[in-house]
Amino acid sequence: MTHFSKTRGRGIHFPRLYDFIMFALTKGHRDAYRRAVLDAVKIRSGDSVLDVGCGTGDQVILAKQMSGPSGTVVGVDISADMLAVARRKARASNVDVSFHCADAAHLPAEAERFDVVMLVTVMHMVPEVDRAACLAEASRVLKPGGRLLVVDYAGEVRSRRSLVSRHKLHGAFDLDRTTPSLAEYNLNVLQRDSLGWLDLHFVLAIKPELTGNASSYLGTSVAKGDGKSLAI
Ligand SMILES: C[S@@+](CC[C@H](N)C(=O)[O-])C[C@H]1O[C@@H](n2cnc3c(N)ncnc32)[C@H](O)[C@@H]1O
Repeated sequence: MTHFSKTRGRGIHFPRLYDFIMFALTKGHRDAYRRAVLDAVKIRSGDSVLDVGCGTGDQVILAKQMSGPSGTVVGVDISADMLAVARRKARASNVDVSFHCADAAHLPAEAERFDVVMLVTVMHMVPEVDRAACLAEASRVLKPGGRLLVVDYAGEVRSRRSLVSRHKLHGAFDLDRTTPSLAEYNLNVLQRDSLGWLDLHFVLAIKPELTGNASSYLGTSVAKGDGKSLAI
């Protein structure tokens, strides 16, 4: 059973319009924007990557192309509408990736499964009450030494240049306030910076190799929540 929290029904349900908006915002340079996101987390050949809130899949497809034949890339989104378009794009691009419908606060993946977890412009859509669970889940599914990338709007609304970054949910969200420190999720922040695109910022963090937690160190850490290791 896929586990949804009270965020059920949220998410974006207009995939074609979403893609058009991204095309317009990036002035037709969506690939360059996607590449900047993936450069921030430095995808390597053979990486296993989870894109949480993957939307219509562009980032997943590019991540697979960057991680190569030995890389595995999985996209998760709460919206079946976005995933339907993502699957079509992946088929058209002939890339071997998989998509799952799930809530970022309850990832259907086993612990320590991925080298990279990304949350790209997703956290501002997650209700405040669920944000801690999203970060905890991201950390849980990361391998020791794995990297987390969160991209979103940051800083005082007054200091934001673009209208989009001040708009409604975007304006109400501040990445720096949501992730002042990631230590409580067993993550060490490596970098905080502007992405250089769309007034977005990112935080890059790493899960330490040695946690001091014996069960985790021995690779037997126990999944939180219902912790179902089903599809991914
Ligand atoms: C602004 S879009 C970003 C999509 C994609 N990451 C990108 O960069 O184009 C936010 C995505 O997060 C999804 N989403 C929102 N809340 C979610 C949640 N709690 N769990 C999983 N996905 C969620 C939405 O359905 C939507 O596809």
